[in-house]
Amino acid sequence: MTQDNMTTSDSDADTENEPLVSPAPGSEAIDTDSKRRRTIHDETVVEARNLDVYYGDDQALRDIDIEIPKKQVTAMIGPSGCGKSTFLRCINRMNDLIDSCRVDGELYFEGKNVYDEDVDSVALRRRIGMVFQSPNPFPKSIYDNVAYGLRVQGKTQNMDEKVENALKGAALWDEVKDRLDESGLELSGGQQQRLCIARAIAVDPDVILMDEPASALDPVATSQIEDLIADLAEEYTVVIVTHNMQQAARISDKTAVFLTGGELVEFDETQKIFENPESQRVEDYITGKFG
Ligand SMILES: Nc1ncnc2c1ncn2[C@@H]1O[C@H](COP(=O)(O)OP(=O)(O)OP(=O)(O)O)[C@@H](O)[C@H]1O
Ligand SMILES: [Mg+2]
Repeated sequence: MTQDNMTTSDSDADTENEPLVSPAPGSEAIDTDSKRRRTIHDETVVEARNLDVYYGDDQALRDIDIEIPKKQVTAMIGPSGCGKSTFLRCINRMNDLIDSCRVDGELYFEGKNVYDEDVDSVALRRRIGMVFQSPNPFPKSIYDNVAYGLRVQGKTQNMDEKVENALKGAALWDEVKDRLDESGLELSGGQQQRLCIARAIAVDPDVILMDEPASALDPVATSQIEDLIADLAEEYTVVIVTHNMQQAARISDKTAVFLTGGELVEFDETQKIFENPESQRVEDYITGKFG
């Protein structure tokens, strides 16, 4: 949750997802109703075309082309510093918050270039939520952590039910239903991460970006998060960065391999990447010859 989100307060209505652009006459607002009616899988939800990203004079990503399918889990793997987090942050424009960062090329969310001038980055981040490596609950009660984004958006009707549903969706409800008033910070690390996932899904986003969400957790908590990710993909598009190749192989439908220099070297079905990659460099990376 960013400062931007925190300072924005919408009016009343408990409506469906809002468009990314202000509803000026002639603007191309996204028709979320038609999106919700579509059920075709393999539909692209996020697409990068010739995407280059720089921090000052240093280029972090080079000419990235990728099409991320809807309601599937897409894993991003690759050695440290190859640009995985940078790419993830491009998708919901979190890189805007880094002064030196510059993005060239195109990044589409449901066909709309998120870097167009008329896109509201706060609205974008409501549709594309994020979960970080270290669990970062707010110093508030469990209930208030989950209710937070809904309150910011003015969606306060049936709040108890929405909080319960989000906690159930994050596989945390049974563990916390009798202690909703306790601080989120009193939960275990794995529970805190599931609380952050509940907070992210409470506002009903389309896409959930996860940057190494289990790397700070023990094996049991990791396995709970992995199970949860598989369930989340029934309803959401999940893009996850992980250093754990077994994890990528276990939980993702597609895998993108970034290698040093900020190149996306190969992107394919996860099974193909791990069993029969096209690129020798990818094979070497996966078999541990480098990286
Ligand atoms: N805020 C920043 N300012 C300047 N350079 C940055 C910033 N964030 C990342 N970089 C640089 O961009 C490159 C890609 O970094 P990024 O964090 O995206 O890599 P990563 O693949 O996520 O690595 P890791 O696996 O270690 O998390 C690196 O060279 C890094 O030093
Ligand atoms: Mg990273």
